[in-house]
Amino acid sequence: MSALAGTASHTDFRTAGTNPAHPEFWSLPASERAAAFARLRALDRPVFCTDPRTGKGFHALVRHADVVAASRTPDVFISAPGVTTPEPARWVRAVFGDSMVNLDDPRHADLRRIVSRAFTPRLIAKVEDDIRRVATQIVDELLSRRAGGGDDFVSAVAAELPYQVICNMMGIPEKQRRRILEQINHASERTGVARSRLRVPGLGLRALARMQGVIAALGRERRRRPTDDLISALVTADVDGKHLNSRELGAFFSFLLVAGVETTRNALAHGLHLLTEHPDQRELLLSDLDTHLGGAVEEIVRYSTPIIQFRRTLAVDHDLDGTPLAQGDKVVLFFGSANRDEAVFTEPDVFDITRSPNPHLGFGGGGPHFCLGAYLARQKMKVLLRELYTRLPDLSSVGGPELIPSSFDNRVRSLRFTFTQPA
Ligand code: HEM
Repeated sequence: MSALAGTASHTDFRTAGTNPAHPEFWSLPASERAAAFARLRALDRPVFCTDPRTGKGFHALVRHADVVAASRTPDVFISAPGVTTPEPARWVRAVFGDSMVNLDDPRHADLRRIVSRAFTPRLIAKVEDDIRRVATQIVDELLSRRAGGGDDFVSAVAAELPYQVICNMMGIPEKQRRRILEQINHASERTGVARSRLRVPGLGLRALARMQGVIAALGRERRRRPTDDLISALVTADVDGKHLNSRELGAFFSFLLVAGVETTRNALAHGLHLLTEHPDQRELLLSDLDTHLGGAVEEIVRYSTPIIQFRRTLAVDHDLDGTPLAQGDKVVLFFGSANRDEAVFTEPDVFDITRSPNPHLGFGGGGPHFCLGAYLARQKMKVLLRELYTRLPDLSSVGGPELIPSSFDNRVRSLRFTFTQPA
């Protein structure tokens, strides 16, 4: 048991080394942050963490059971007014509207029903052909460019697949894709906390606004001439007797692009590095891709946990397994900490592609907001890893990933890589 065990639920953790509400916490080395979360998990109940700059704070839900409980009790733990920490200013929400992740039922359920049309097995099967085609093109491109690698795996491979696939699903014309990608990178690099500074406004918002302008224009066009893409499905859909307006459409797509592209790209980059750092696991995977690919993808998502945290707000007073929470209190669900919970995972710090069961919370803790793209993300990762390791069996990362400190996502800016050109 930790020396801190048994501390009362409203203890303030003030120093950066123990306090995930402290902006500097997110610039600590990953091992120190992991140790801090292990100490928090060892306490008998969630602690209240305070941001020293604002005096505001949240209850840190760090155990698997608590994250699951909060995720699956959406009447008590609501997503409005928003799930990202720190909270965006009110005017940001007014200008950009709300995406489904920040809404509660019934509005959330309406939006989710519409967009779920794009994730039916029939449509996903169509997308799977597309994923294979894009994965083949990416490896063809690597082989045609030069032998040896050395380039950035993130831009050449990890970001390319999810981005192209999602653009195809949405029906984004080829000529607009590069510009939109630059804007997403710009916007998402400025979300969350970097060093002791808050990264949000300014440049990130302008990039989002430009991207939403492009999407709104496409929406207007598809309303006039619908096709079988996702934008057409949304603008011709009927929610509460209305179509989505341009702002809602833009907000929805900003979220979908960040949620679908950034997450998968980071998971793939962490995946290559993890499999390079653990040659035994990589050897096992390559010895029988059919058997081990599914397990490898789950373990990569558990181990790297691309989305670090989401927040909920208490709709009513509530007792969370002995911890009294008051209406209006904030709780933060730390998915990465839950994924290392020793009460659920044997040797949680070991990267083991044969781990079974592997009930990780990388795609959320269940409940109405569970990742809508989980199946699609798994397919993308499996198809790309199979293509890469079949055609470039010695593909490896070189050095460590260049990480971007953030409280929001485990983001990889770049990762160098190498492979031998087949004879
Ligand atoms: C490895 C890749 C991915 C990871 C780790 C990931 C993770 C997550 C997490 C943690 C949540 C929040 C769950 C909750 O609050 O309970 C979420 C929600 C969501 N994700 Fe993903 N995601 C990934 C890929 C994707 C993809 C490819 C798409 C779509 C193309 C997508 C679309 C969504 C949507 C729409 C939501 C919001 C659902 C709602 O609020 O109802 N995600 N994701």
